[in-house]
Amino acid sequence: MPLVTTEEMFKKAYDGGYAIGAFNVNNMEIVQGITQAAKKCNAPLILQVSPGARKYASHAYLMKLVEAALIETDLPIALHLDHGADFEVCKSCIDGGFTSVMIDGSHLPYEENIELTKRVADYAHERGVVVEGELGRLSGIEDDVNVSDKDAYYTNPDQVYDFVNRTGVDSLAIAIGTSHGAYKFKPGQEPKLRFDILKEIEDRLPNFPIVLHGASSVIPEFVDEINSFGGNMPHARGIPEDMLREAAKMSVCKINIDSDLRLAMTAAVRKHLAENPSDFDPRQYLKPAREAIEQMVERKIKTVLGCDGKA
Ligand code: G3H
Ligand code: 13P
Ligand code: ZN
Repeated sequence: MPLVTTEEMFKKAYDGGYAIGAFNVNNMEIVQGITQAAKKCNAPLILQVSPGARKYASHAYLMKLVEAALIETDLPIALHLDHGADFEVCKSCIDGGFTSVMIDGSHLPYEENIELTKRVADYAHERGVVVEGELGRLSGIEDDVNVSDKDAYYTNPDQVYDFVNRTGVDSLAIAIGTSHGAYKFKPGQEPKLRFDILKEIEDRLPNFPIVLHGASSVIPEFVDEINSFGGNMPHARGIPEDMLREAAKMSVCKINIDSDLRLAMTAAVRKHLAENPSDFDPRQYLKPAREAIEQMVERKIKTVLGCDGKA
């Protein structure tokens, strides 16, 4: 099956009360782990590539890895640019075979965000590619940018209709309590999602797909495992998985998860090397890493997204 856009996936997800997982890919083992889990669960899938991943692996390699995954799985898969910072990177991905791009103008003044997002949406739509925009800012780590907690703010429901209407975006990423990276809520802080804001947004944008970034829950057992095999990571929780599941039953149709996969993968590599200190064959330590990704994606499909059996 060729790559698909997210249009059909989101329609079904909205009506079915579930969300599609958007997982970040950087190399072969990550692509394989994610797609094997999706295949096992018969789940639709979004593979997303950040500008950093594109710099690391190159556009050509990532395209070929995704092509291989399509042949192996025969699942509906969308290939999405995550956090496109400017028109040029979006254009390059649209011209280069992606079926979906995000233009992240969330750090810009409102009118500038609209202008940039509309320019990308016009270019993308002429070529059959869908576009995600963002309104509101998440705190935490985002590519090279570090948005301080002080500057972070929730999405203003009064702006969403105007933004979607004037830009023509196909989905909207909002800020209602999630944040990027593995250092989210510190001990003592209560992780919570602002369901009241989500509901207000849903009322103003009926039947419109909403996206949540920063949706890794930072599961303590993986941080513990990393630390028990020589790591030194502070504990900082994310939004609990059951809260995200509730959001997926509402208008949230795309949930972005990267850090939980990185934690699972790193824990597996650390454990393997600690238990096999003379091992120097990358296949030996990347195999459990790939399996850890597969297990984590299966967990997310079943506990957070609810998209198993929906391919
Ligand atoms: O939201 C950002 C994603 O986790 C990608 O991270 O920019 O380190 O590839 P990256
Ligand atoms: P996490 O860091 O919470 O996994 O978020 C990933 C993300 O939003 C990618 O765009
Ligand atoms: Zn993100």
